[in-house]
Amino acid sequence: MHAILTRIDRAESTNDALRVMVEEGAPDGRGIYTSEQTAGRGRRGRAWVCPSGTALALSVALVGPQHQAYTMQLPLAAGAAVADVIRAETGLVPELKWPNDVLISGKKVAGVLCEGVHDGTRLRGVVIGVGLNINVSQGEFPQELESIATSLLAESGITYEIDHLARTLHAAILDRVALLSANRGALLDLWRKHDVTAGRGVRVGDLTGKATGINADGALLVATPKGDKAIRSGEIEWTD
Ligand code: BTN
Repeated sequence: MHAILTRIDRAESTNDALRVMVEEGAPDGRGIYTSEQTAGRGRRGRAWVCPSGTALALSVALVGPQHQAYTMQLPLAAGAAVADVIRAETGLVPELKWPNDVLISGKKVAGVLCEGVHDGTRLRGVVIGVGLNINVSQGEFPQELESIATSLLAESGITYEIDHLARTLHAAILDRVALLSANRGALLDLWRKHDVTAGRGVRVGDLTGKATGINADGALLVATPKGDKAIRSGEIEWTD
């Protein structure tokens, strides 16, 4: 697929800007990115804060009914794409915290937000948004994020070209989605290569136990005193 990716000077949220473009007919694979996102959104209604000029906000549109078959696994496909690109481009060792937080040495370097675009009740497409901290110095993070966030620069001492990483990440996301559609097991194996969730104590909502991996759907398996549970969506906290 030849998909178009454009840099925009500024956006409140690249996910919102791309959703409007999809509603107006943008094709499958269309991507937009900026390093000036002023009102980024994170998962669960949180804000995604990225310092101006040094972080990447990228959104990629998947348009068409063919994507409906695997919406549950898209966050894992995007997370695996981000981790693979970081590994290949920087040599750093990214870690995936289920389903799609990307960490380095336990601190968050990138997050993924997948959102459906609907025509009434019909799913027209999905917008995959990725926020990646690239050339952010550790002192540039807001104080409340300092101990939990990191960047490629902070981890390596090297600055990276944002345009190059945006192009590479756009291509990698589309490649991993194609793999997901052809061979879900192979895509989940790519995700497992970076998994730091299995073996850890976790809390998800009311449930506490030990994560043992992901199943064939990408659901998180948690061993609890009441038996094994499969969690299809949610956010985990470490308990150990
Ligand atoms: C998270 O909470 O971990 C997800 C963060 C996702 C942020 C990205 S930045 C590009 C895209 N546009 C947004 O408003 N959010 C996503």
